[in-house]
Amino acid sequence: MLDLLVTHATLPDGRTDMSLAVRDGRFVDVVAGPLQAPARQTLDAQGLLVSPPFVDAHFHMDATLSYGMPRVNQSGTLLEGIALWGELKPHLTQQAVVDRALAYCDWAVARGLLAIRSHVDTSDPRLLAVEALLEVRRRVAPYLDLQLVAFPQDGVLRTPGGMAQLERALDLGVDVVGGIPHFERTMADGATSVRQLCELAARRGLQVDMHCDESDDPHSRHVETLAFETQRLGLHGRVTGSHLTSMHSMDNYYVSKLLPLMAEAQLQVVSNPLINITLQGRHDTYPKRRGMTRVPELLAQGIPVAFGQDCVMDPWYSLGSGDMLEVAAMGLHVAQMTSQAAMRQCFEAVTTHPARILGLEGYGLQTGCHADFVLLQARDPIEALRLRATRLQVYRRGICLASTPPALTRLQLPGRPSSTDGLAAR
Ligand code: FE2
Repeated sequence: MLDLLVTHATLPDGRTDMSLAVRDGRFVDVVAGPLQAPARQTLDAQGLLVSPPFVDAHFHMDATLSYGMPRVNQSGTLLEGIALWGELKPHLTQQAVVDRALAYCDWAVARGLLAIRSHVDTSDPRLLAVEALLEVRRRVAPYLDLQLVAFPQDGVLRTPGGMAQLERALDLGVDVVGGIPHFERTMADGATSVRQLCELAARRGLQVDMHCDESDDPHSRHVETLAFETQRLGLHGRVTGSHLTSMHSMDNYYVSKLLPLMAEAQLQVVSNPLINITLQGRHDTYPKRRGMTRVPELLAQGIPVAFGQDCVMDPWYSLGSGDMLEVAAMGLHVAQMTSQAAMRQCFEAVTTHPARILGLEGYGLQTGCHADFVLLQARDPIEALRLRATRLQVYRRGICLASTPPALTRLQLPGRPSSTDGLAAR
């Protein structure tokens, strides 16, 4: 007896009329056409898209939903955001951080986002945010995978005791080593921080995910050091460069040398389109740079690129809702990834690519994978992006966590019979 049988599903790879059988929280059969087996529960997808859940490879859950506290970012820059977060930090309470993070996780689940890698600030000697997010990780574990990165927001070398605090966060159970070389006092300090943090990760057998070169300065080249240290320490496939916005402004010749170096080190990349397009280029008059890294060129090198949400209603960004289709659609537009193949890559940048970066076990729609999936009010990934499709059902381990009614519009036009249709979904 199956626990769940999903029928008439369209999969992201284009296969239609698929049946997915679920037992004990995993897919036990994924076949074309009908599947004759008794099941306790059935779900007729009616030809709509069944996708693996959305994954966000880059978020800041300790700052989320704090918009306006204690004031709003006037310049819209990264640096004022960091200063603003510094003003807020002394007033944070663990309970408030936990409450806001849990509220955000509810939003995420409702939108089919079931795995998040969140950076957590380790610059505060109290490690209040670290304790709070470890508590959140424990509480959401039954329904959402939360991975934490030890992130020295104020610079691991620039902060007195910064490295010791970051190590204490790892001792407490934070999963990944973070960094912010472009915020250290000098380029040399930035490079030193990359080397020391990669050595720390190698010693502890951990992954690295660094905020790297989040600036419009074409001479911010810490990603080169990150690739070099990855090679030197044998960390291939375990290191992620987040943001990499300076690559947008770099000289083309230099990038032609950099890209193969990154591929050789098997670096992974996270771009954050909503944040990059709003924080970067603030010192420009016109033309204004887009400030997003070179996504199609990175993908062409075989480098996995994820699109992250980064911020929702915090000192850096006043909007956002945990909607990874919005994130992917922005990435698509900013990177001009408008071909059929490129639009599909944008969908992969919020599903399979971040799942690979997080190292999620059992992710996907193949037999043996966890029965985690989203039923969308769309017939394929491109339509899902175009419509920011309603997430009709969200399942984890074969159990429905969230459902949303389909978008339907009632039209009452003069001289025409009234009709109710999924117009909002066309
Ligand atoms: Fe970030």
